[in-house]
Order: sequence, then C-alpha cells, then structure tokens
Amino acid sequence: MLATMGALGLAPTAGAASREPVFRAPRSGDFTLKGRGAAKVVVVGGGIAGLASAYELGKAGYDCTILEARDRTGGRNFTVRGGDTTLDLYGNRQTARFSEGQYMNAGPGRIPQWMITMDYCRELGVPIEVFTNSNASAYIYNEKAGMTAPVRYRTAKADTYGYVSELLAKATDLGALDGDLTADDRERLLEFLKDFGDIGSELKYTGSEHRGFTTDPAAAGTPGVELGEVPSASEVFASGVGRYFSFEFGYDQAMLMFQPVGGMDRIPAALTKAIGGRRIRTGAVVQEITDTAHGVTVRYTQDGRTRTIDADYCIAALPPHILAKTAHNLGSAVQTALEAVKPSSAGKIGLEYRNRWWESDHRIYGGITETDMDLSHIWYPSYGFHAKRGLIVGYYNTGANADAYALLSPAERERRAVAQGVKIHGEKYRTELASSFSHHWRQIPHLEGAWHTMSGGPDAPAYAPLNKAAGHVYFAGDYLSYADAWQHGAFSSARKAVTTLHERVLA
Ligand code: PHE
Repeated sequence: MLATMGALGLAPTAGAASREPVFRAPRSGDFTLKGRGAAKVVVVGGGIAGLASAYELGKAGYDCTILEARDRTGGRNFTVRGGDTTLDLYGNRQTARFSEGQYMNAGPGRIPQWMITMDYCRELGVPIEVFTNSNASAYIYNEKAGMTAPVRYRTAKADTYGYVSELLAKATDLGALDGDLTADDRERLLEFLKDFGDIGSELKYTGSEHRGFTTDPAAAGTPGVELGEVPSASEVFASGVGRYFSFEFGYDQAMLMFQPVGGMDRIPAALTKAIGGRRIRTGAVVQEITDTAHGVTVRYTQDGRTRTIDADYCIAALPPHILAKTAHNLGSAVQTALEAVKPSSAGKIGLEYRNRWWESDHRIYGGITETDMDLSHIWYPSYGFHAKRGLIVGYYNTGANADAYALLSPAERERRAVAQGVKIHGEKYRTELASSFSHHWRQIPHLEGAWHTMSGGPDAPAYAPLNKAAGHVYFAGDYLSYADAWQHGAFSSARKAVTTLHERVLA
C-alpha cells in the first residue's frame, strides 16, 4: 500500500526515504482512539535542539514552554549585526558597528546539502543561497612551513597534482606497479595522470595552465601569460599546501554548501515564530530540575525572581557541561555522563571593510583561505557580491588558538588578526577596515563552548544514561548525535527525543 501511495505522491518513495532515518512528526490525530491527550512539556534551552523539540511537539498540540537563559533564542546559532552587544565571561563588552546588511554568522555558517537542516529551511520557508566553501581563487599561506608568499588554491593543486602524477607515472613506467596492475590498467592509469597532473606525453611536470595566469587570456594578440616560477617537487611538498585538499572530501564538507539568505539566525527566528513567542521565556536561568512521581518541576530565575514550572515531561536541551552545573535529582549516572562531555573552543572575528577589495583586486568571490598561522581560516562573504561594503571572517580558529585570542582584548584581537591578514592580502587589509567584532564561544555566558569532545561517540556506554529518559526528563543536543557541531545533530537529536516521548505518551 505504501508503495502505491508513494507512486501517487501520497507517501515518501523508497528513494527519498533511504536518505535518512524516516521521521514522522507527532500529529494531533495520533491521539484519536487512544484516549490520551498531548502532555505538558517544559523545554530547557532555546537553542536549535530545544526549539526543534517544541516545534515538532507543537504539531500534535503539546503544551510546550521553553526556558531560555539568554535574551534571544538560537543558542550557538547567532548572527551578529550592527547594534548587537555581548558581554563575555572575561568582562569584554562589545557592540557590533557593522553597517546595514552586513553580518557575521558567529556560530554555524554553512550547511551541507544532505543535512536535515535543509529540510527545516524548506519547511519553515527560510530562503537559502549558495555558500562557497572552497574556491580555486582563494589562497593558501603556510608561514610556519616557510612559505614567503601566499599561493592560490588552483596553483597549489596544479603543482601538487602535477608532481604526484609525474612520480606515479614514473613508478608505473619503471614497472614498480606491475604486481598490482595489468598492462591495460597501467595504460589507463597513465591516461588519467596525464590529464589530472597535466604532465604531457613526456610524463613530466613542468608547470601547467592549471596554475593560472599573470596576464589573463583575452582578445587575439593576447594569449595570456602563464604563471611562471614553478617550484620544485621538494618545495611543493615542504610547503604543506596539500594538507587542505582533502577537506572538501569529508562527508560533512563540500565545495558547494548553503546558507540562509540574510543570516543563519533566520532558522531560529522562523522556529521561534512557528512555536509562538508566548511559549518562550527568555532571561530564564534554570536552577534546578526535579523529577517527581508524576512529572517534572523546574525552578528558574527571571528578572531577579525565583519561579517554578510544573510539567509532565522535560526535554533538557542545555549544553551538557551547563546541565552538569545545574542542580537535579536525575542520579549520579546522569551526572557522570554529563561531566564526561568536554566543551571545546572556537572563535571568529568579523572584519567589515569599506570596499570589497578581495573581489576587485584579488578576484575572490567567497570561499576560504587556509593558513598555518593562528588565525587558521579566513572566510570571504558568500553574500552581497559587488556591493559597496563587505565583511570577512578574519579568523575562525579552534582549541588553543581560539583560547589565546579569547584572552586578548577585542582591540588586540583585531590588531593580531589584521597583522596576519596583511601578509596575505597586503595593506588594504588594514587601511580599508571599518570595524570589527570578535566572538569566543567558550567565554559566552550560558553556552561556554563551541562544541564537544566525547570519547567513543554518542553511543559509547559512558553516555547511555543520556540516550534514554531519566524519569520524565529527555536529553537533546548536537552532542548526542554523530553530527556534533552541526545543526543537523541538534535537529536529529531533537527528533529522537520527540519520537520517544510521544510514543510513551501514546502507550
Ligand atoms: N560545523 C562546523 C564547521 O563547519 C565545525 C566543523 C568543522 C565540524 C569541520 C566538522 C568539520 O565549521
């Protein structure tokens, strides 16, 4: 019957369904004939996992209330625009001075095509646009490896693939691979290498058009001048440029990704609207979660007052390390599991420029420059092409590099990031700067982490107490998924919590 319905477009077809575990949102009709009704649920934490939980349960008429400690929903999904103010745990207060239309996604900034975040964008009517994750025109600059000037990705790839092709062709010719390859295989491999590395019939890499041009090909009489000074194989391998090439092979990364038009926070904004503002209490800091014989009581403070809320169930969607600091009676196994999840650091700085010199001077339209300096990555904007102003992410770093920048004042962070960027882009990186805003997740109140390290992954025995209900309390968050540090993880974890809670209510 399902197959027939699928053919008629009334049910998902096998092909579509095989993309992911099928999720069926709760519906009010589920209660018909069951003699049961939707329950009251308190959702602790208004990040993506908490919002998605309330949104999905709301479809079946559950009476949900979200308690959110901060003054806005979205959690780590935070888009910084002009006028936004933050106060970090080190006491740095910053107000973004970005001009109209400019923004920085301080948290999530790119969405792979396969992730269910895309389905939520579709369902919620959040328009999306291409995010350029990898760009042949962007640079690589490994200062520590001894590079004295940046190279374009396309040049680094041409040289690396060229020499790898030459060496492999040589080995093939010398018969070193005869044990592994038939004569036909060898022929086909050489065909591939000639093309891939552009090594010609001599099977030797001597540079290639793939490297790019110093004078671009144009009208008759102007064939273009190829980029010269081909480094030796030894120099290419020593530069370490090749270490970045496999990034886009990762299943969670790709050359082509997506972003919501106007900022990543369009997602929590749409969820918040769909749930209904009256169901969300911001500035509500949860102090204690108590599982009782018939439900849950949550005590929280808001506007200096202590309040409580009673519900049949709770979905605890706070970061695990924050939950571990919150009083509860869910048992020591839960507490031990929560404490085993370690928060990690990441930071970004948004640099707004008075003009888009990376487009006009460098011909870079989106994408990422990779470095071995402590700024790590520089992101060029995938929105506002050819507009007057533009905003670059001047560093996106993690771990010790993020912690080092976090210890600096915002002005010092800017100075350090700009001094490094000048080495790649020249003086305009300094002279055209209009303003900056930096953000470090480990130092942000109520979040205190960018993502998590969990040895063994979410199904390791250490975390078993969090993957089921503790009394009437369910846990949700990207940390309880195989996509930590992705909204997909938060969405899929929320779907799992919602599904098990709903099954229990129906039983
Ligand atoms: N999702 C984050 C990002 O894309 C963190 C991350 C980076 C996760 C790389 C996996 C791989 O930047």
